[in-house]
Amino acid sequence: MQVVKTVSEVRSVVAISRDGGERIGCVPTMGALHAGHMSLVVDCRERSDFVVVTIFVNPTQFSPTEDLSEYPRPLEDDLAKCREAGVDLVFTPEVHALYPEGFETYVELESLPLRLEGEQRPTHFRGVSTIVTKLFNIVQPDVACFGQKDYQQQTLIRRMVRDLDMPIEIVVCPTVREADGLALSSRNVYLSDAERRSALSLHASLQLAKDRIQSGETDLVNIRAAMHDLMTAHEHVTLDYATIADANSLEELNTPTSHMVALVAAQVGKTRLIDNMVIEAL
Ligand code: PAJ
Repeated sequence: MQVVKTVSEVRSVVAISRDGGERIGCVPTMGALHAGHMSLVVDCRERSDFVVVTIFVNPTQFSPTEDLSEYPRPLEDDLAKCREAGVDLVFTPEVHALYPEGFETYVELESLPLRLEGEQRPTHFRGVSTIVTKLFNIVQPDVACFGQKDYQQQTLIRRMVRDLDMPIEIVVCPTVREADGLALSSRNVYLSDAERRSALSLHASLQLAKDRIQSGETDLVNIRAAMHDLMTAHEHVTLDYATIADANSLEELNTPTSHMVALVAAQVGKTRLIDNMVIEAL
């Protein structure tokens, strides 16, 4: 496994593999790798011949009040996990390599970033779409894997790739969870034992929505209220949103469609967590 820090090194290493006829796969991450990230690597490995993992805590997707400086950066552990998973190349750039002095070009989607996460984090998705475009331009993968865990993020990336004619297959992989339902997240390490117990309310409220919709209930306003009540009944939980949206457009729904997604976000103690569940009408 090669580990490189510069754009030109990525380009030359990947070029050799591409010239040899290999299919290039890419898994963009911010590191602190857990089994959720590694499931993307496994999937990517199956779909490509040469797997590139990028590890970069992208400053432009954090707001000034967020956890950029505290974000975990266990690089040696991350590299060991990549090595074990058969990754071919890890790209771990410094900030100045991707954001040189005078940087002023961003990729921005018009409406998808405004809802849900965007209400609390107005500049977040501009940072995500910009860095993912840059990583795609650097690696030029044939296929790239993202997690369903970040539902709005994968929706936005698929839209961007389509709208800008990027020749990349985007694969969305299922959310990996702990046995009790908590979605794996690099931010879970911040949770105390009591907060972790309260964090289970995110998954529980999604499951509630799914069960009630699939048992025939059609008043989604009512179900949203029940999700809200379930989550706020737990100490340490400050709810951002608990909603049910169309799985493609992310528009909030009051009555069911055939393909929906329940989405939640909450502050648990000082840690902001998100989760979602796709719900097919029965
Ligand atoms: P990060 O939070 O490190 O996540 C990297 C990838 O892992 C994302 O596609 C995310 O959806 C996926 N992932 C995280 N937790 C998961 C879980 N429990 N199960 C399955 N997949 C999971 O998302 C980002 O980084 C950044 O925004 C990035 C796209 C790298 C741009 O900076």
